[in-house]
Amino acid sequence: MIKRTAHSGEIRSSDINKEVALNGWVHRRRDHGGVIFIDFRDRSGIVQVTINSSTHLQAHTVAEGVRSEFVLALRGKVIARSPETINSKMPTGEVEIECYEVEVLSPSKTPVYSVADDEEVDETLKLKYRYLELRKKSKIDKFILRHKAVQKVREYLDELGFLDVETPILTKSTPEGARDYLVPSRVNPGNFFALPQSPQLFKQILMSAGFEKYYQVARCFRDEDLRADRQPEFTQIDVEMSFVDADDVMAVTEGMLKAAFAVIGVEIPTPISRMHYKEAMEVYGSDKPDLRYDLQLVDITDMCKVVEFKVFNDVSNSGGLVKGINIKQGFTLTRKNLDDLVDFSKKFGAKGMAWISIKETSPADPAQYEYQSPIVKFFKPEELVALMQKFDAAPGDVIIFIADKYATTHDVLGRLRLEVAKMLNITPKQKYVFTWVTDFPMFEMHDDGLGALHHPFTMPNIKDISDLDGDPLKLSSVAYDIILNGVELGGGSIRIHRSDVQLKILNMLNISNESADEKFGFLLQALEYGTPPHGGLAIGLDRLIMMMTDSESIRDVIAFPKTQSAICPLTNAPSPVANKQLKELSIKLRTPTEVSDGQ
Ligand code: AMO
Ligand code: AMP
Repeated sequence: MIKRTAHSGEIRSSDINKEVALNGWVHRRRDHGGVIFIDFRDRSGIVQVTINSSTHLQAHTVAEGVRSEFVLALRGKVIARSPETINSKMPTGEVEIECYEVEVLSPSKTPVYSVADDEEVDETLKLKYRYLELRKKSKIDKFILRHKAVQKVREYLDELGFLDVETPILTKSTPEGARDYLVPSRVNPGNFFALPQSPQLFKQILMSAGFEKYYQVARCFRDEDLRADRQPEFTQIDVEMSFVDADDVMAVTEGMLKAAFAVIGVEIPTPISRMHYKEAMEVYGSDKPDLRYDLQLVDITDMCKVVEFKVFNDVSNSGGLVKGINIKQGFTLTRKNLDDLVDFSKKFGAKGMAWISIKETSPADPAQYEYQSPIVKFFKPEELVALMQKFDAAPGDVIIFIADKYATTHDVLGRLRLEVAKMLNITPKQKYVFTWVTDFPMFEMHDDGLGALHHPFTMPNIKDISDLDGDPLKLSSVAYDIILNGVELGGGSIRIHRSDVQLKILNMLNISNESADEKFGFLLQALEYGTPPHGGLAIGLDRLIMMMTDSESIRDVIAFPKTQSAICPLTNAPSPVANKQLKELSIKLRTPTEVSDGQ
């Protein structure tokens, strides 16, 4: 085999007259009679190869038989392209390879879709032929970037003395709020391993074990509804440290993010700003606010207590919340846009969405504003002026309102914020705005009782264990999420390192002593044998790379991702197994009738 001496995408005019040997794929082939042109590709990029029958007949004869995606080895000389054929769009566009030897290393069937052309291809087909899809430079480049970013984060953590420790994949359920993937045990019939939702409990045990600083690029498994930024298996950069407070963990996280973003030449200013959960909810209607634009929520509940407009009046006088957003210069929103926003609000549980549009041609004096709105008729002129002042409104602005229960008003306005930003296209594409969100509530109310907002090992903000005896919904926790452009990149907390506090929290979550012992006994026990104060965080690596590469889907940055319905079209996993295998595992499948009967 002709062994490579150079990479296709790296050949430049400084290489002119050098002999090179290349290994790679036929990206495109054009036959101009006596001369065959091949765009020749390897991981680094593409260079043009010419094979002339009059000077190199043998090579030309071989090249006549090659087609797209054949794998070749070739030898030739780097020459300058004639000025009229220079291609300034290609990094190798000033040169070409005058080829005199071609060896076919591996032929290719006609690809099911072209690697060279950017045609619209069905997503499942792209996943089935993943190896073709990943041949595209734009795709491989994301993995090169992912590799470099991980490498930089590893270097950074190594310098700080973090130890890379692997934790089990076959383990016990860890409560991160999703369903577990279960693996039946053959040798212990009727028993199951759970794949880890995160290494949470093991990293805490490592702190008990005196490792002091742990990290892992850890695979996590969660059986949950998939979205554009969620996969059933994904990777975390998982970190835990002993003898630290929240500031220490946040500083290390900022260092990791700095190291990763340096790979794309972006400098992240630190320290990253912080916001309490309460402020995030009240001002942005979200615990992961997108701070690339303003569109803040303004509370008008008090002033609505006396207005005549029944919807606002009723809600504000019955413990609800009336809030609005001033969409500055929102007059470009059409009537249809506003109707769509009303429907959008209703879809997310609001009873309606009111709006006031201030005509752009209005005089500067708020008392003389001209409006377009289904609700201004319900307000007295002086009430309208007060409303305009409250929103700092000017001609051309559009104000949208939601009146509802505390949670619904925030949730719907939070979603409207994002929707309006999308509609008006006001989100800058390449700006990275980070924020920490801190002091989350410790618990939230679920249908079946209290649930942990982060996870049950998070330290509540208490001075004494007796502080847990008050209203649990008023407790906050020492938890922090790192948010980038409205996406939760990572989250962590200071942990409970006392077994009595831990047990009490588990009890509050309606987990009995017996159940706690069965599920987390090993952790509770470790807490009794000298576990230092500790805390940590995990960054979703796939989400991080998704954002660094400006990808639409998390699938773009995972080599072998699953579809929205959690299957892998490449391997056809998951798939049925032979009865023999099930028998060995002591598993009997229910018949379709039993399944549909809910047995
Ligand atoms: P958490 O559950 O917040 O915390 O997860 C941390 C980060 O992991 C990413 N992530 C996901 N990425 C892709 N697909 C998913 N299904 C998915 N689920 C989560 C997110 C998220 O912010 N043990 C704690 C961390 C800690 O407390 O140290 C944990 O797992 O980016
Ligand atoms: P109605 O009196 O129900 O016709 O509503 C008058 C206007 O208020 C309409 O534009 C509705 O979309 C809007 N609206 C109704 N309910 C709410 C609500 N809970 N919050 C905000 N606006 C509402």
